[in-house]
Amino acid sequence: MFDLQPHLRAVMSGDPDFRAVLWEVGGLEKSGVDPAVWLAPEEAIEMGTLRGEKRRREWLAARVALKGLLLADGVVAAPAAAIVRKDAAGAPRLVVYEPDTGRYEVHGCSVSHSGAFVLCAYAPGRRGRVGVDIERRTWRMLYLRRKYANKADKLLDPPDSIGAGTLVWSLKESLSKLIGTGMGCGFPKIVCAETEPGRCEMLDPAGVAHRGRYEWLDRYAVTAVADPPEAAAPAPPRKHSLLERLARRRRLKRLRRERSADARENETAGAPEGAPAGEWCNREESNLHASRH
Ligand SMILES: CC(C)(COP(=O)(O)OP(=O)(O)OC[C@H]1O[C@@H](n2cnc3c(N)ncnc32)[C@H](O)[C@@H]1OP(=O)(O)O)[C@@H](O)C(=O)NCCC(=O)NCCS
Repeated sequence: MFDLQPHLRAVMSGDPDFRAVLWEVGGLEKSGVDPAVWLAPEEAIEMGTLRGEKRRREWLAARVALKGLLLADGVVAAPAAAIVRKDAAGAPRLVVYEPDTGRYEVHGCSVSHSGAFVLCAYAPGRRGRVGVDIERRTWRMLYLRRKYANKADKLLDPPDSIGAGTLVWSLKESLSKLIGTGMGCGFPKIVCAETEPGRCEMLDPAGVAHRGRYEWLDRYAVTAVADPPEAAAPAPPRKHSLLERLARRRRLKRLRRERSADARENETAGAPEGAPAGEWCNREESNLHASRH
C-alpha cells in the first residue's frame, strides 16, 4: 500500500490532546488511492450517497489523510480498521475496530475542507474531543461580523481586519465542531481570547472553557479546539423521542413473536406429522410414565 506519511503536513504539532495533518485533495490521484483499500464497508456506502465528484473527492481525501496519520502513529495496522462514523447531527467520531482481536475504541475526530486542502485531526486520549477548521482569508468576514463576533473576542497581535475576522470565525467553527452542533450553536455566543501567540481560550455558549490553537498557512487560517480527555464529561443518557420509543416497542413485539414462534417450532420438532404440539408432549410424557411403572 502507498505510504502516505511523507506527503502529510503536520500542523499545530506537539499538542498532547490532538494530532492534525493537512493534505492536498490532488494527492488522491498522485498516490493512486484505491477506496476499496482505505474505506471500511460502511464508509464506502456513505461515499456512494454523496453527490458530485468534487464533494466525493474532498470527503475521500479527508478520510485517507486521517487514516494515513493513524497508520503513521501506529493506532491502526490497516486503514479499514479505522472508521469515521457520523452521529445524527453530522458530527464525526473515529471508531477503531479490529474484528480479529475484538479491539474497539472510540476517539474524537474532526475534518475540514477548503479549496485544494483537507485538514483532519483526532484525539488520542479516550473521551478526548477535537474540532478543526481550515478557512481561506475572505473579505466577506467584514460583512459577516454580526454573525460571529462577540465584544469580548480578543487577539493579541491582530492582523488586518480580514485576517482577524477569518481567524475568529475559524476558531469558532472549530469549537462548534468539537461540541458537535455546527454553526447552529450561535457563533456570537462564543468568546475567543488569545492568551499567548497562537493559543486561545475559547468559551462555548454554556461558558465552558476549551483550548484553541491556530496557524497561518499562506492565505489559510488553520485552527483547532481540543479538550483534554478528563475534561469531557460522560454524555448524559439520551432521551428517546416518541417515534424512537414506538419503533422500539414494535421491534420488541416482533422479537417476542419470533421467539415464541421459534419455541413452538422446537416443541413440534420430531412430533408425529399433524399432531398438535401439546398433545404430542403429553403423549411423550405418558409414554415415559408407562415405561417407569
Ligand atoms: C459543521 C459545519 C460548521 C461545517 O462547515 P463547512 O464550512 O460547511 O465545512 P468544513 O469543510 O469546514 O467541515 C465539513 C465537516 O464538518 C463535519 N461536520 C458536519 N456536521 C458537524 C457537526 N454537527 N459537528 C461536528 N462536525 C460536523 C463533517 O465531518 C464534515 O466533513 P465530511 O462531510 O467530510 O465528514 C456546518 O456544515 C454546519 O454548521 N452544519 C450543521 C448544520 C447547521 O447548523 N446549519 C446551520 C447553517 S446556518
